[in-house]
Amino acid sequence: MTATEIEVSKSDAPNPSGYHEFSLGEFTFRRDEYFVYISWPTGNHMMSIDAFLRALQRDVAWDFFYGTVNFDSVFGTVNHYGTVDIFAGRFNDSYRKAELDYSENHATPEIRETFKSILSDWTNSTFDPFASPHETGAAWGIKNGDNDAAVTRRRVAARRMVTVPGDEEIRTDASGFPVNRHFLDVDQTEPVVEVEPGFEDDVAAFNLFAYLSRSDVTWNPSVVSQCKDSLFCPTTEEYILPIIHGNDRVEWFVQLTDQISWDVEDRDTGAIRSRVVMKAGDVCAMPADIRHQGYSPKRSMLLVWENNSADIPDLIASGKAPTYPVEF
Ligand code: PHB
Ligand code: FE
Repeated sequence: MTATEIEVSKSDAPNPSGYHEFSLGEFTFRRDEYFVYISWPTGNHMMSIDAFLRALQRDVAWDFFYGTVNFDSVFGTVNHYGTVDIFAGRFNDSYRKAELDYSENHATPEIRETFKSILSDWTNSTFDPFASPHETGAAWGIKNGDNDAAVTRRRVAARRMVTVPGDEEIRTDASGFPVNRHFLDVDQTEPVVEVEPGFEDDVAAFNLFAYLSRSDVTWNPSVVSQCKDSLFCPTTEEYILPIIHGNDRVEWFVQLTDQISWDVEDRDTGAIRSRVVMKAGDVCAMPADIRHQGYSPKRSMLLVWENNSADIPDLIASGKAPTYPVEF
């Protein structure tokens, strides 16, 4: 199926707040001035619209990411890499015990197009769901234009390494990305590399801190280097990670600057497992059976290191590979 063949189920007319209503399978989605209302055959749920749009933006931009994207403790998606589950209460102990949890599986293009349409219709011109709350306006109110330029931003994804010929260029002032207010002290000088003739295609270096200091988005890892299945995905963080991520593999965090606090919970029940405070220079591995949400009081730089192998989720789910990375 291509995107053009997919019919998104959308109301003909907008509601009194000016927004269209959407459905996917048995799920329905409606927004008003402050909230989103989600319903399914065994229940319904509401979320603040700013939090919902921030989470929806990540789910769309990351094409459903690794494993589970919890928008909050009730609603979210699970990626099966070709199909996606959309669920309510599935990773919530109380919903499970009351047998009120509900889940549907959809072909990825179907849910992708539905989510993209909701994001476009429900985002007003004043709001950028990728920006830190301090650097954007409000999500509230009756429908007021759109911000398609922001919500369709292309994610930076290098195939080798940034600056190696054929890949993403470093952002400079000339590219229109100024240094962020919190990173004005970051050294902008670039390394000098003198390459032996014949190796121009393979040898390169760049100032990663300078590159990240110009990021205009928060909580949006971009791939800056790829070596087989090893992806370096640094990102700049401020305020709260808009999703609670339940991974299907181990991932490593390297705190490059400043500080992030992580709430770590059991992936399936939401029971609290730990709180991790990461300061500049700290490194940790998040196990494959947890979910986590980060809090960054000041804009910080975080390196997320992912193993992109398609084999890992099955190896972990079947117990052939452990949920943790290292035996000490
Ligand atoms: C994560 O869930 O591991 C994650 C997501 C987005 C970020 C950082 C970490 O910006
Ligand atoms: Fe994660």
